[in-house]
Order: sequence, then structure tokens, then C-alpha cells
Amino acid sequence: MTGGTAPRRFAGDTLVIASHNKGKVREIADLLGAYVTRFPSAGELDLPEPEETETTFIGNAALKARAAATASGLPALADDSGLWVDALDGAPGIYSARWAGPEKDFALAMEKVRRELEGAADRKGDRAKFVCSLALAWPDGHVEAVEGYAHGRLSFPPRGTKGFGYDPIFIPDGFTCTYAELEPDEKHAISHRADAFRQLVAKCFE
Ligand code: IMP
Repeated sequence: MTGGTAPRRFAGDTLVIASHNKGKVREIADLLGAYVTRFPSAGELDLPEPEETETTFIGNAALKARAAATASGLPALADDSGLWVDALDGAPGIYSARWAGPEKDFALAMEKVRRELEGAADRKGDRAKFVCSLALAWPDGHVEAVEGYAHGRLSFPPRGTKGFGYDPIFIPDGFTCTYAELEPDEKHAISHRADAFRQLVAKCFE
């Protein structure tokens, strides 16, 4: 991490995307295309996928980025994201993907959120946020990290068919529709991922 010193900046033309998810790799390449020429992915380089053993979004993003940078000898970028529900002390949080089970059934995961919220002693206004952590690691182990947020509230039943994951139950502040009812461009302008990338570009790429 940075301590009191200036953040390390990305210099070079190749950035490994520490993900085996093709959609994610394409999205990151689009977002950083102005600063980087080549984006080999951990999948293409056949790098091992480390187990996400940390307890925070930043911790897991840093773990994945560092593993890819060390294995490839190149700077590497990883992300970790999820839904944080205030009344559930941050659950599903880093387990957001896992709540959907091996079938990746998000109808099931959203129903689990609804049930747990109904059982909460204090629903805290159904407040929630999406979190996106990004970690940029170098082969010497140095890491720069940022965390982006989209604040809002939960709403049931799920509404909308655009987007993915928990989008149909999340209404971002300033809107009356869910993430899944927004056009992709509208979501990308206000999302936790957009917030995180703006911070990362300002810190390490501009
Ligand atoms: P990751 O790929 O390990 O970071 O897991 C992220 C998980 O968080 C996804 O599987 C979704 O469940 C959830 N998630 C992250 N970002 C979003 C989003 O923009 N909309 C809906 N769900 C999201």
C-alpha cells in the first residue's frame, strides 16, 4: 500500500487482467484502453486462480492482483465487488457471488437477502451499497488500491431485466428505478465500478 509516499504510476504498455471472466476482461480493457495497449488476461496466460481467502474486498482484490503480477512478471489489475446490506452487517459482501450457489442463481440470492432483511431487528431503512475494489500490483509486490461505491436502498420484488447479479433489487440514490431498469450506459455512468475506475485512473494512469 502507499503509506505516506506518492502513489506508484503505471508505466508500460501491457497490463495483465487478473480474471478468468471474459466479460470482465473486455469491460476493463474498454475502460483503460486510452492508457494501455495490451491486456493479456490471467485466463489467456494460464495463470493459477488463487483462492479468495481475505476478509475484505480490497484484501481479495490485492491478493488476486499480486498473484497474477508475481506469476506473470508484469503489472496486474484485479477487482473484487459485491453488495453490502447495512442491516445485515455488510452481508452478502465478499460472499455476493457465493450466495447464488454453484448454479449462479441470483433469484435465489435475492430471495435470501429479502428473507434475512425481514428477520433483521433493525432494517436500517433497507440501505445498501455496491462496492468495487480495484488493486493494481507490480511483480515486486507493491500494490495500489481504490474502492468505489454506489449508495442506495433495496426494493422487493426484483424489477428489471437489464444488468446482472443483484441489480433488480437495488435502487441507487437519486433514482426511482432499479439498476436492472437502467440502460447500461446510465448504470455505467453512476456505478460503483465507474467510481472505482475514475479513482484508479486519477491515481495511477493520468
Ligand atoms: P466478484 O466477481 O468476485 O467480484 O463477485 C462479484 C459479485 O458481486 C457478482 O457475482 C454479483 O453477485 C455482485 N455484483 C458486483 N457488481 C454488481 C453489479 O453491478 N450488479 C449486480 N451485482 C453485482
